[in-house]
Amino acid sequence: MYLGLDLGTSGLKGVIIDDKGNVLAQESVSLSVSSPCATWSEQDPLSWWQACIDVIQQLHQRLDLSKLKAIGLSGQMHGATLLDAQGDVLRPCILWNDGRSQMQCQDLMNTFPELIERSGNLVMPGFTAPKIRWVKENEPEVFEKLAFVLLPKDYLAYRLTGFMSSDCSDAAGTLWLNPETRQWDDVLLAATGLTQANMPKVHEGCDLVGVLSEESAQALNLPELPVVAGGGDNAAGAVGMGVTNAGQGFVSLGTSGVYFTVSESHKANPENTVHAFCHALPNRWHQMGVTLSGANSLAWFAKLVDKTVPELLDALEESELQRTSVLFLPYLNGERTPHNDPLANGQFVGLTNATDLNGMTLSVLEGVAFSLLDCQNALANAGSIVDELSLIGGGARSAMWRKIIANVLDKRLIYRDGGDVGPGLGAARLALLGEQQSQGKDIEELIAEYCTMPDILASHEPDEEMKVYYQRKYELYQSLYHVTKPLNE
Ligand code: XUL
Repeated sequence: MYLGLDLGTSGLKGVIIDDKGNVLAQESVSLSVSSPCATWSEQDPLSWWQACIDVIQQLHQRLDLSKLKAIGLSGQMHGATLLDAQGDVLRPCILWNDGRSQMQCQDLMNTFPELIERSGNLVMPGFTAPKIRWVKENEPEVFEKLAFVLLPKDYLAYRLTGFMSSDCSDAAGTLWLNPETRQWDDVLLAATGLTQANMPKVHEGCDLVGVLSEESAQALNLPELPVVAGGGDNAAGAVGMGVTNAGQGFVSLGTSGVYFTVSESHKANPENTVHAFCHALPNRWHQMGVTLSGANSLAWFAKLVDKTVPELLDALEESELQRTSVLFLPYLNGERTPHNDPLANGQFVGLTNATDLNGMTLSVLEGVAFSLLDCQNALANAGSIVDELSLIGGGARSAMWRKIIANVLDKRLIYRDGGDVGPGLGAARLALLGEQQSQGKDIEELIAEYCTMPDILASHEPDEEMKVYYQRKYELYQSLYHVTKPLNE
């Protein structure tokens, strides 16, 4: 049995698989995000550790965890967890959807133009490096004490093992890694006043990084198990869905929305705001387009109208509504692909006296699908085209949303077993690979055997009849960002 821990933005999930890779149990604990100022997004790292204890306690109720052989990790990317020389947390973690470092991004790109070439990515707010520049300029007393920077899941690994480590899929999202060599880059680190002494050792996603310390084994009531590096949540999600080879891809509808494709080498394409990072499996890379408010858009709207997400989706399904005049821009947290604009705003337009809740819910589902089409177009411009896509993440549970996305992207969309726990399943698979690899087994053989595509639960073909409706609406969607941009200035 193997445990995958996925530290998401809205909660921490624990997924247990058996020795053949079948999911046996999953549990989750909610996490909250604080936003002390507009465009800020923070979380307390100590709440992650508490959530980890709680989730494992829940799993103890479900299964005999003495049979666990290893733990693997997955987590929200880019978060800056700042620690002092004693390993204590200096301030709340600045998350992936935090837009405060816009000026620092511009400044870094102006003064260190080689940053884009060396990292293969635009310097975008939300990535880790510009946040450190922000801390240096705005919280010098924190920067002075800064000894180590860890990504969220790596902070969990540190609490679990007592050792600091990272993996190259997540580390690439800091902008301090050279994705080609899969190692830290001194020049990139120096641009934000850091050196390798501030960074943990970087591993492949399926490498063992330590064993549970005596203290954490006791807190979790587990034996001193090996811990495997794991991956950033998107790369881990790909491992979970068997998206391991060039030409394959998936879409994730978690708090963010992600369109992910695998590449056989590092393929930078900053001009289209494409993210070009390492995969969590050796000798593989990936590209992705990222929309910052995926399933979060629906969660936000549900909260606004005092309903739950299932209530909104059930009502819409019952109404059989297929078209609406309402158009929604999902830029509630600004946007990365394709605008790289942390100040972009969300919009509802096309309202009439006849507009009801179902019309607005439908427009939210469509708006998020259009933002994924923007990602698909950015990736296509970068030369990355896939024929069919798996869909993962909490939002993937909705058959109606899946159908809308298949129509808007004009692709076959597949919902697979475990799609709702994608990154957690990937983390558990990485634990299995790591433990088996440490027994001397060949990693490529292990990948071929265990990182297969899970069974298909539902498959959605694009509907020709809806094509004209979506094409027309997408054109309006694209112009709406430009027309409403002055509102943010
Ligand atoms: C990817 C990104 C998000 C987070 C969400 O670049 O910022 O998908 O990883 O967890």
